[in-house]
Amino acid sequence: MTTLSLAPLRGLTDAIYRNTFARHFPGFDLTIAPFLTTFKGSKVKSAKLDDLLPANNKDLPVIPQILSKDADQFKILATMLFDLGYETVNWNLGCPYPMVANKGRGSGLLTEPNKIASFLETIADMPCALSIKTRIGRHNSAEIKELIPIFNAFPLQELIVHPRLGVQLYKGEVDLESFSFCLANSTNPVTYNGDICRPADFQRLSRRFPEVDRWMIGRGALSNPFLPSQIKGIPLPQQPLSSIKLFHDELFTLYSQRLRGGGHLLGRMKAVWFYLAAGFKNSRKILKKIQKTRKIEAYTALITHFFAEEAQWQQPTSSSDD
Ligand SMILES: Cc1cc2nc3c(=O)[nH]c(=O)nc-3n(C[C@H](O)[C@H](O)[C@H](O)COP(=O)(O)O)c2cc1C
Repeated sequence: MTTLSLAPLRGLTDAIYRNTFARHFPGFDLTIAPFLTTFKGSKVKSAKLDDLLPANNKDLPVIPQILSKDADQFKILATMLFDLGYETVNWNLGCPYPMVANKGRGSGLLTEPNKIASFLETIADMPCALSIKTRIGRHNSAEIKELIPIFNAFPLQELIVHPRLGVQLYKGEVDLESFSFCLANSTNPVTYNGDICRPADFQRLSRRFPEVDRWMIGRGALSNPFLPSQIKGIPLPQQPLSSIKLFHDELFTLYSQRLRGGGHLLGRMKAVWFYLAAGFKNSRKILKKIQKTRKIEAYTALITHFFAEEAQWQQPTSSSDD
């Protein structure tokens, strides 16, 4: 059975987004939440955990993610999450952004196998299970070869591999040879993540890696929310455009209730469209118009007109179209 998870995208896949997505578009089995950072001391501002309160996460099972290089702080936050009901937490070893990686966190830690080993030893007695989301290295893919035996010493719930280097950010090709190495050598279950944008991408990868049954998709699903259904063989709605509009309208309503000030709301909706526009005919044109709006009233007028008069959702391509 194929398990599909929605990737964490900070600034996008918060509780409102991932639960609204799941209500409108079937196919995902679970998601990893965007990372929380650890904090000094043993008190956390409760607002930091709002996104993960079970009451805000009823529509899609979620695994919280922590970005940290401090094992003791990680354990404190993981235990709080366990107390909220989470049996697994995910450790972010992939974040490529220089502000994070230069401080030895996320993919910045991948050059330090000893630190990773001692981190894992320190957190081994935490109450919840651990999953890891990693890249194949920070500077070169030899790094993952040293890390897999270290990961193998711990019973991970899963090892999610995005086969790029930290320094690549999101550029260049995914390195399938290195992914193959992880798959052959990991004793923990391995999940593939990266550049699945169309059903054909999924089919090509699953032909190459028939033993993989866990897949994670981010940007491809934000651009084409029907992608998980297409992969799972779930019939698409008769009127895909209506589903997208309902999804948009619900997101807009929920964000307008939560975010203070039109600027925040507008910023959030622009981030949504950055990906969602890709499925529409003349996507660049509409994206440009959206990005130019400065007031929420102008945004609402633009989007109302767009859905009523212009929007043409391009039936997402199937493998035979490729
Ligand atoms: C804007 C943005 C934010 C992201 N935030 C996170 C994050 O909080 N945690 C994480 O593990 N990965 C994060 N990622 C990486 C994605 O989860 C995923 O690994 C990456 O986009 C590759 O998968 P995809 O090609 O299916 O999108 C982020 C990626 C983007 C583009």
